[in-house]
Amino acid sequence: MAVLREVTPEALRRYPDPECIALRSAIARSEGLSVGQVFVGNGSDEVLAHIFQGLLSSSDSLITLDITYSFYPVWAALYGLQLTTEALREDFSVDVNRLSAQKDSILLANPNAPTGRALDLTDIKRLVDSNPDRLVVVDEAYYGFGAESASTLLSEAENLIVTRSFSKSHALAGLRVGYALGSASLVEGLTRVKDSFNSYPLDASAQLVAAAAIQDGKWLRESSQVVIENRVKLTGALLDLGFEVCPSSANFIFVKHPDHEGRVLFEHLRENNILVRRWEKEPITDYLRITVGTEKECAALIQCLAEKCAP
Ligand SMILES: Cc1ncc(COP(=O)(O)O)c(C=O)c1O
Repeated sequence: MAVLREVTPEALRRYPDPECIALRSAIARSEGLSVGQVFVGNGSDEVLAHIFQGLLSSSDSLITLDITYSFYPVWAALYGLQLTTEALREDFSVDVNRLSAQKDSILLANPNAPTGRALDLTDIKRLVDSNPDRLVVVDEAYYGFGAESASTLLSEAENLIVTRSFSKSHALAGLRVGYALGSASLVEGLTRVKDSFNSYPLDASAQLVAAAAIQDGKWLRESSQVVIENRVKLTGALLDLGFEVCPSSANFIFVKHPDHEGRVLFEHLRENNILVRRWEKEPITDYLRITVGTEKECAALIQCLAEKCAP
């Protein structure tokens, strides 16, 4: 906020740096990469859209998971790409053997959304190494809440691209900044697509604030730790009410109750002004995705669910 308050009229009168050098340098330094390995965009949604358009072609086929971020099929349809899906196991884990046996390019959210489950780095490495000719995109929008990052594999892998967001662990969704980490040639390809679409997707104030946020590693660690601690407490309280809780490395948890329909619990919470997410889609119709809130918000949620589910 201090950086935002100091944005000068002069900084806004001029066009911003189209190459976002200061921000990309700050990200590169924090990851031990070169500036040429960092691409930034207007939210990681925009970065992912450029990956679909610029790094995949209609002759490639792309595989993702059957339960994952709902925007992936939208981009595939928009850019005319074939998208197939690999079914998750009943516990929402990924069968890495089956996935690596496919020849398609791979797109994974890690941790996955809406399940919150994360793949280990060794599994991601297997997917990357099993076929150097395919692109592996790891969407780390929920990076910072406990999952291992695939960015450490970038020094050896030319076919890997990792996307990140400032919207979740940095708590800056309104700023609209996301980024990708990859080889210099993949980043150069993304840059050409971006320059053909909009040379200035990041405004001057967003570039300044995001660079300051990246440098404030202490704040990121401390605030993510609070979310992790609240997630552990919330999980315990929901288990006490009889819920099944999918292991989460994100800032939300995915839960269902064996004796109560998801729709009924969703509506009961909504009547009490508590909003959670639910999908009218098998096999997850009975699941609720609950954001890990403050201690007070979590207590209100538990009190409300106890009215229906107390043993
Ligand atoms: C898995 C996943 N990827 C990407 C995004 C996009 O994030 P943003 O565009 O805010 O960076 C989201 C947002 O909810 C998400 O859940």
